[in-house]
Amino acid sequence: MRSLLLSTLLTTLLISIGATAAADEGDDALQPSARFSVYGHGAAATPPMGWNPWNAFRTEVTQARMLSVVDAIQQRGLQRAGYTYINIDDGWWLRRRVDGGIDIRTRMFPIAASADGGSSLRAWTDGLHARGFKAGLYTDVGANACSQAFDRHSPNLPVGSIAERGIGLQGFEASDLKTMFQDWGFDYLKVDACGLADFGPGSEPVRESGLAINRPVIVRGDAEATDRRAVETRYARVGRLLAGLNPDNDYVLSICPWGEAGVRDWGGRHGNMWRTSPDIEPTWESMLHNFDSAARRELYAGPGRWNDPDMLAIGLGEFDADHLAEARTHFSLWAMLAAPLLMGFDVSTASNALIDILANPEVIAVNQDAAGNQATLAVDGPALQVLVKPLASHGERALLLFNRGDAPATATVDAAQMKLAGDTLTHVRDLWRHEDLDVRQPLTFRLAPRETRLLKVVGTPVRGNATLLSEMTARIHVAADGLPTYATPRDADIGTPRADHSPEGKPLRIASTDYAYGIGAHAQSRLEVATRGEFQRFAAHVGMQQSDQPGTGRVVFRVFGDGRLLHETRAVGALDAPLPLDVDVDGVQVMELVAATSGDTSDGVPAAIVWGDALLRGGAAR
Ligand code: GLA
Repeated sequence: MRSLLLSTLLTTLLISIGATAAADEGDDALQPSARFSVYGHGAAATPPMGWNPWNAFRTEVTQARMLSVVDAIQQRGLQRAGYTYINIDDGWWLRRRVDGGIDIRTRMFPIAASADGGSSLRAWTDGLHARGFKAGLYTDVGANACSQAFDRHSPNLPVGSIAERGIGLQGFEASDLKTMFQDWGFDYLKVDACGLADFGPGSEPVRESGLAINRPVIVRGDAEATDRRAVETRYARVGRLLAGLNPDNDYVLSICPWGEAGVRDWGGRHGNMWRTSPDIEPTWESMLHNFDSAARRELYAGPGRWNDPDMLAIGLGEFDADHLAEARTHFSLWAMLAAPLLMGFDVSTASNALIDILANPEVIAVNQDAAGNQATLAVDGPALQVLVKPLASHGERALLLFNRGDAPATATVDAAQMKLAGDTLTHVRDLWRHEDLDVRQPLTFRLAPRETRLLKVVGTPVRGNATLLSEMTARIHVAADGLPTYATPRDADIGTPRADHSPEGKPLRIASTDYAYGIGAHAQSRLEVATRGEFQRFAAHVGMQQSDQPGTGRVVFRVFGDGRLLHETRAVGALDAPLPLDVDVDGVQVMELVAATSGDTSDGVPAAIVWGDALLRGGAAR
């Protein structure tokens, strides 16, 4: 009796402690999950490749135009090169029916007209499947689509009453997704977000086109006014529904809130790719802007979940047949980012030189490498940048030297920057010239403005048989980044957890000791690492990132293995020397690295911390 009473008391106590922890989201986020909490569904083990008509045809998309591109993709070797997804974008719909279904604009897609007067895209997807392609479609997570806000003078917008023009998913999630995937047989869905952003009270589309008012939960460019939880909740539902509708897992979910609403943090939990920026335009500036929006997010990408800086602008504007150097650079950058490769121009009119760029098998192999690591920036100057992408095969890296400036420049890269042991370089291959180069160290190249050299190099990994965490970024998931949600950066990415850099982009440094490699983050962070039972030990030197204005806060570092605490440090302060860790992780499937503030930290954003030279021994992952 007494023991029963005691255990009831204990349970009550534990429940109330649990409730307090759950109420404090910050602490809750530091609890180990014992899993690798990414989406885990869909068919995007490598970045999706294909074609999207939006930047070529906007709402003037027709079946005939699309098929002429499909023919070109097939006949000119692009399908063989890997471009598989043929995606319909905005403009395909005519109206929402009273019974909740959607009528297709059969004037533009005659193949969709059924004998009974209805419409279905089944024949379209059957046709693509028969030719070895996959089929993609487009919708919006709100009630209306982007064309209804930004292409309002198009003759091809949805027609009818306000309700009939509500062609987005809102209120129709389950039935629309079932129609698209089970009835029509699509394999890919891009889900845009204008319906959550551009139809507020007094907005132009509402005033001028009489569309339903939808209180915006995304306020573009204003993270504080945006209700990121509401946006995440909608996309999470789409992700769950698609997983349920596709037992064979053969689908891709592309999330499209243009880098808004903190999608950096949750895109990989609910879908396979997510836009990091506004729409690409075919200008050098826009391409750079979109590249930058993803370039420091290497800890967010990996098999099944990719940063998406938008479609390729190759074939258009400053990347057309008269700008082949720019086109090669653009393609190289997207390859290094492990970004989806979606062509966006009228391929039926492409010059051979453009086709050669897009079909370059050695460059595509970098993008499609099985390890799925996004490149990290080894050199990040205003003009010169060097990106390094560890490849699946032992000791192989793709290396990109990039001159983004207006003047010629000389780029030099040494073995350490490639994460190779000194003097062990055995092979250097130029992936655009398709030739092996003399092995010389350091590697030095003169680059014209906007020019890149894309190389594959082979040597001995810098830590021998151990694997640096920054060599296996695809196996890291940022479960908590320690930043207040409103501070989630949009473009500049100050504050993003990084490989080999502090969140502010500085070298990793603890009490005057520099670490060329490691992971930089803020405190109140938790990283999940997919160790998959392949390693024996985890080692690192931990401490607080040296700062000009050291705070008074202290940080405790914890290492968990499959949810069990394996190691906890004492609390360290800003001036404390690095603490060495060497932890047994034998058999651990998911290791979690937690940095937690200890005691009172009153100064807003938690201090930056360092997992210096963090590495795993006893395996061959990268
Ligand atoms: C948004 C998207 C684009 C395209 C258009 C269609 O702007 O970001 O990629 O889909 O909508 O209207």
